Amino acid sequence: MSASPPDRVRVLEALRDVQDPELHKSIVDLDMVKEVQIRDGTVQVEALLTIGACPLRDSIVASIEERLRSLPGVREVRVSLGVMTPDQRQALITKLRGGEVSAQRRSSFLTAESATRVIVVASGKGGVGKSTVTVNLAAALRREGRRVGIMDADVYGFSIPRMMGLSGQPTLIDQMIIPLEQDGIRVMSIGFLLPDEGEAVVWRGPMLHKTLTTFIGEVHWGDDLEYLLIDLPPGTGDVSITLAQTLPQSHMVIVTTPQVAAVKVAQRAAKMAEKVNMEVIGIVENMSGFRPAPGADPVYIFGRGGGLRLAELLGVPLLGEIPLDPAIREGSDAGVPIVASAPDTPAGRAFRQVAERLAERVPVPTR
Ligand SMILES: Nc1ncnc2c1ncn2[C@@H]1O[C@H](COP(=O)(O)OP(=O)(O)OP(=O)(O)O)[C@@H](O)[C@H]1O
Ligand SMILES: [Mg+2]
Repeated sequence: MSASPPDRVRVLEALRDVQDPELHKSIVDLDMVKEVQIRDGTVQVEALLTIGACPLRDSIVASIEERLRSLPGVREVRVSLGVMTPDQRQALITKLRGGEVSAQRRSSFLTAESATRVIVVASGKGGVGKSTVTVNLAAALRREGRRVGIMDADVYGFSIPRMMGLSGQPTLIDQMIIPLEQDGIRVMSIGFLLPDEGEAVVWRGPMLHKTLTTFIGEVHWGDDLEYLLIDLPPGTGDVSITLAQTLPQSHMVIVTTPQVAAVKVAQRAAKMAEKVNMEVIGIVENMSGFRPAPGADPVYIFGRGGGLRLAELLGVPLLGEIPLDPAIREGSDAGVPIVASAPDTPAGRAFRQVAERLAERVPVPTR
């Protein structure tokens, strides 16, 4: 005897397991399931998309079909798609934002109260590897199963899209921006909003401030996000001020080269943190020893000891030393962080160790 078909309650319960791939929430909780009809063994579902041009519509349909087919007594699943009305969409956005603050002021996605741990990656000068460290730490935390985002705060000199191998435009649902995703890492950069990578951003300060507050308040990072890494531009205080005001729970990691003479310059980042009241949680020394061949003695092209000296001066831990390794640059250029492509090389391991120490210093609540 074949199993009897499931009832509506059972179907909805099963659909609870289906997530909207961009919003990372159950389609039932998002009120995306409009109709369920069960006749004999045939289950018919009408799902509502947020926008008609939803790029992931096929994947939503496939997930619904797969989930319902696994129910006993189901012989056929038919899925039809509709589109939310503007009112339904507004209701969904309000729900995702955790409720309306007032008619004029929408609540931000990321606030001082959010449980997301915010880590700002800074340096005293440019080109020391902030962006490289940011993407590799993100990849390392992700590898440990953490839910991670990267916010590219280097509006004028953005490099995160290329390093993460991401291009294209984010989906907009009314005023809500959906971050792009790579290997489960949610990413937002001004680069996604410009016509091409070679485009220059020529703005005055207020626009910079507006961009960052938009990235914080209007991007749907998801309330399940555990770590948000923020890649800072070199040497400007503006961005840190905006971040410290908007996300006062931010912690700072300072990247420096091993050159002892560069310590003074790196200290500027610490001064900046102090002025905006941000806690420095550790130092990453980047471009440390270079090994000309596996097993060969390292050559200290940029000197030695800078990271440790800075850590001692500031009274914070040295989170790790990242070797100088052409494979790191190649990974960044190719859009695949070395932690993702070669996690067990010395460079991959060095980044993972930094991520581990970082997570110890700024733990997320155990689930
Ligand atoms: N450990 C390393 N070994 C080899 N190359 C590296 C290493 N770290 C960074 N690089 C390379 O050095 C260059 C500068 O790195 P990156 O862009 O990450 O620095 P940055 O501090 O973010 O620079 P900016 O201040 O311009 O934003 C890049 O080409 C990157 O691939
Ligand atoms: Mg950079």
